Amino acid sequence: MRGKSILLVIGGGIAAYKSLELIRRLAERGVKARAILTGAGAHFVTPLSVSALTGDKVYADLFSLTDESEMGHIELSRAADLVVVAPATADLMGKLAAGLANDLASTALLATDKPILMAPAMNVRMWQSPSVRRSAGILARDGVQFVGPNDGDMACGEFGPGRMAEPLEIVAAIEKMLEVRGGALDGFKALVTAGPTQEPLDPVRFLANRSSGKQGYAIADALARAGADTVLISGPVEIAPPSNVTLRKVVTAREMLAACEAELPADIAVMSAAVADWRPDIAANSKIKKDTEHKAPAIRLIENPDILATLARHKNRPRLVVGFAAETDDVLANAVGKRARKGADWIVANDVSGNVMGGDRNQVHLITAASQEHWPEMSKTDVAHRLVQQIARQFQERS
Ligand code: CTP
Repeated sequence: MRGKSILLVIGGGIAAYKSLELIRRLAERGVKARAILTGAGAHFVTPLSVSALTGDKVYADLFSLTDESEMGHIELSRAADLVVVAPATADLMGKLAAGLANDLASTALLATDKPILMAPAMNVRMWQSPSVRRSAGILARDGVQFVGPNDGDMACGEFGPGRMAEPLEIVAAIEKMLEVRGGALDGFKALVTAGPTQEPLDPVRFLANRSSGKQGYAIADALARAGADTVLISGPVEIAPPSNVTLRKVVTAREMLAACEAELPADIAVMSAAVADWRPDIAANSKIKKDTEHKAPAIRLIENPDILATLARHKNRPRLVVGFAAETDDVLANAVGKRARKGADWIVANDVSGNVMGGDRNQVHLITAASQEHWPEMSKTDVAHRLVQQIARQFQERS
């Protein structure tokens, strides 16, 4: 994780002193921390100690003109690779869960496009209270990750869950989130489909869609960086393939299916291609000419094979099958139905009614049998990285 940077939000609690040690442990590992100290946090640790350890100024005030001119609060929240909240108080958790932003810490948490890790610390009864349970549930569904709290004697004299995780535990959680350790997917084979398919009508005309292939190419790259032997099966796109993958170029849905089947067995399949659902029933061998009576030809469409559903039910089914759901309406409900119907393990759902196809950013929901995570809008590269982290975690847990 050397060279990475984190934004550390220090909330108000006795455990704030452990965040000072966290900064030191991160620095030892070459990770730069920049800190936001909340008003309550400043009652427990001084801005001077935090600043001495981060080697940077401490950000505290949403309405500071100097801070805004040096680095705006939005930029502050995005310049880091990860946002860590330690200690995460009931107040900070509740604000983020409710979407409130009335100070620098809560504003940065709402504005960030980076993953968030929270290390809660509070009294046992507070942690167990229905409202904090509710906040924790909402945050987990929104993709926030947690480390701790641990059981133990608490400063307030009670015993139970509420103690903030130890600095080295937080470092381990950060490490897990920051990077798929080089080699996390060593020895695994991954298939990725990407881009559109083109379904010919005649030698010069075809049916296609606006898919740019950017999301699938980024996923293939991230899988390969994590060590997977990655085959990228791509429809016609304009972008350059990552250098670390095996590229198989195809044109039609049937070619894409054949290329996928030829690569089985594989451990992981990520089907991000925007496969044309239909093709013209006949692809003429020569150019269809205009009728002298100006009668437009009728094009009859027939359904293409469903590559995702075929792989998900294949006798050589990959251990993890991930599909995409491009939706313009009822994104979540449609994606949940699609996961079950196609037999995928996970579905990455996105709303494609805006500028997603062809754009560089994406806002997705990760739907599994057990959970739904709603990720904030981020670059397609970050979506790829985060998805591959989840994949790596899944394989680490299984092995
Ligand atoms: N997919 C596929 N083969 C097809 C159609 C889609 O493999 N012939 C895959 C896509 O790569 C994606 C998932 O299925 O992973 C969902 O694609 P999407 O276009 O959202 O779904 P459709 O199958 O078109 O369903 P609907 O028409 O209901 O949206």
